[in-house]
Amino acid sequence: MAQSLMQKFYVTTPIYYVNDVPHIGHAYTTIAADVLARYHRLLNENVFFLTGTDEHGQKVEQAAKKKGVLPKAHADEHVVGFQSLWKKLNISNDDFIRTTEDRHKRVVSQVLTQLWEKKEIYADTYTGWYCLPDERFWTEKEIIDGKCPDCRRPVEPLSERNYFFKMGQYRDRLRQHILEHKHFIQPESRRNEVLGFLENDLNDLCISRPKHRLEWGIPLPFDPDYVTYVWLDALVNYISAAGYLSTPDQFENWWPADVHLVGKDILTTHAVYWMTTLMALDLPLPKKLFAHGWWTIEGEKMSKSLGNVVNPSEMADTFGVDAFRFFLLRQVPFGNDGDFSQTALMNRINSDLANDVGNLLSRTLTMLERYSDGLTPVRIKGSAPEDIALEEAADTLFEKIDKNLSDLAFDKALTEIWQVIRIANQYIEKGAPWQLAKNPETKERLHVVLYYTTEAIHIVSCLIAPFMPDAAQEMKRQLGFSKKTETRPLNMAARWGNLPPGLPVSKGKPLFPRIQPEKKKSPPQKVTPKKNDVPASFKPSISIEDFAKLDLRVGIIRSAEKIKKANKLLLLHVDIGTENRQVVAGIATRYTPEEIIGKEVVLIANLKPATIMGIESQGMLLAAGGKAVLGLATFTEEIPPGATVR
Ligand code: MSP
Repeated sequence: MAQSLMQKFYVTTPIYYVNDVPHIGHAYTTIAADVLARYHRLLNENVFFLTGTDEHGQKVEQAAKKKGVLPKAHADEHVVGFQSLWKKLNISNDDFIRTTEDRHKRVVSQVLTQLWEKKEIYADTYTGWYCLPDERFWTEKEIIDGKCPDCRRPVEPLSERNYFFKMGQYRDRLRQHILEHKHFIQPESRRNEVLGFLENDLNDLCISRPKHRLEWGIPLPFDPDYVTYVWLDALVNYISAAGYLSTPDQFENWWPADVHLVGKDILTTHAVYWMTTLMALDLPLPKKLFAHGWWTIEGEKMSKSLGNVVNPSEMADTFGVDAFRFFLLRQVPFGNDGDFSQTALMNRINSDLANDVGNLLSRTLTMLERYSDGLTPVRIKGSAPEDIALEEAADTLFEKIDKNLSDLAFDKALTEIWQVIRIANQYIEKGAPWQLAKNPETKERLHVVLYYTTEAIHIVSCLIAPFMPDAAQEMKRQLGFSKKTETRPLNMAARWGNLPPGLPVSKGKPLFPRIQPEKKKSPPQKVTPKKNDVPASFKPSISIEDFAKLDLRVGIIRSAEKIKKANKLLLLHVDIGTENRQVVAGIATRYTPEEIIGKEVVLIANLKPATIMGIESQGMLLAAGGKAVLGLATFTEEIPPGATVR
């Protein structure tokens, strides 16, 4: 994908019905398009990212009538919901088209005139089954027992004069194009679906509605008693916004679009109606049409009546914009259906974001502060197998991202980035810089470990930028980069050896605060304090100097497991910022391993190691209780691991 510098990239989302309240489905496509647009901009390409709203048609007309306002006023009120959501979700669209704008209506009119003059449109009388309340036609095959398949009310035969686009004649040409261009319609299952649809005869397309039934639309230029069918109006947005028939130079530059992103429900309208319209206009076809899957919500279809519509704005407020963007693209392959739940979102945040990338950044910065004078290290060559493996993984990451994004495999691209993050975390654990720092003879090795880790993080920060723009910028800021943006294209910037030495790092707040899952509904485990849990007398006084001898640290429990043949003990790994401590804790009667992972605790870090059940325990956790543990000491705020406790 990354070729010459001034390549262009034109990506679109569907234009959303302005009536709707924006939901997760709208956010999904728009975030995906944003990632592609940002990625191509980072390659220094010329990008045009288009989204907008579909504002004509029956639903808007009816909703406006109900409110007693004009349809345009109704649209003006609703469009703001989309525009402000895109702002909040960090969507970097270059244009936002509304089908009620003159620049669009003019082009639709001209397109219709062209098609009329080319005799691609004809008038005919259509007879079908009409559902009066729904105001739409059904074919004989579609109705069920004389009733509307949608609302189950009786339908009646109706003949109506309308205008038709000669779509049927393009069937073979369209099939041929799909067969000759393997990646034109993706994913492959959707390509096969369209090919299957085209095996049958293709009907001509009714492109008008008589004004007496629907007024709120673009009038047909050759018959003012009719308005344009909403799909023909809407689809033209992809060329009207790009300058078709208004700014030919611009249009030449952008068209054909590189990717149209749509949901699976609007595949036929795009793959068949739109592509054949373009053929009739003698315009080249877009390079790719990708139909993504649908989200269910906790296993149920999302619907207003079930009251389970996910509001993206609320999700962003509660969990963070970047976390929400990440979740949608990481959770399921783009072409598949997926299930949304807040629990799944929180799990991803805690594991992939807080634990993996957040932890990698925070521990590295702590190490740089302690062992590298707070500066990014000077370049140095390592020769240990783990050095070579980390360099190789990070230096080749760009190619993997590039390949996956050209296939719109967002989930795979993110998995590749997380693979490097995991390798880097393991590298730190193996390298144990906190041990190396204790010995002057291992100073050079310490330098290598610090440098390799920081290089890897720098590459990660470059490549997560399209997905999580704020987090990427914050990572760079903490790594000491000034606001000045990178001018090199991503394929050059995200390379080993590009980290400038001597940047003053500045550790900030955790990149992704851990989210405490809501307590389970089951009643909490009851622990009755025993007599010796609440002793009546106090121990003898100690001096403040005695107390100061204790090195108490904030730790995060990264792993927990039961110890065989020891009912009361758990084996924990506690992250205290610069290192992981192995702790054998007598808390198994109070906590299961699952519920304790991710908890913030207080570790006595300078207690002499002890061997318990043959396992070395490198510290102790503060807990309430005597013999029976009542609960662990923890914090009301999120505190970075390693912070001292006094
Ligand atoms: N106005 C038309 C598109 C015209 S494009 C020339 C339209 N609008 S819409 O508001 O209904 O847009 C819906 C978009 O949201 C579609 O791409 C649809 O697939 C998507 N989704 C609606 N519900 C969805 C889910 N539950 N999950 C994922 N996407 C879903 O159609």
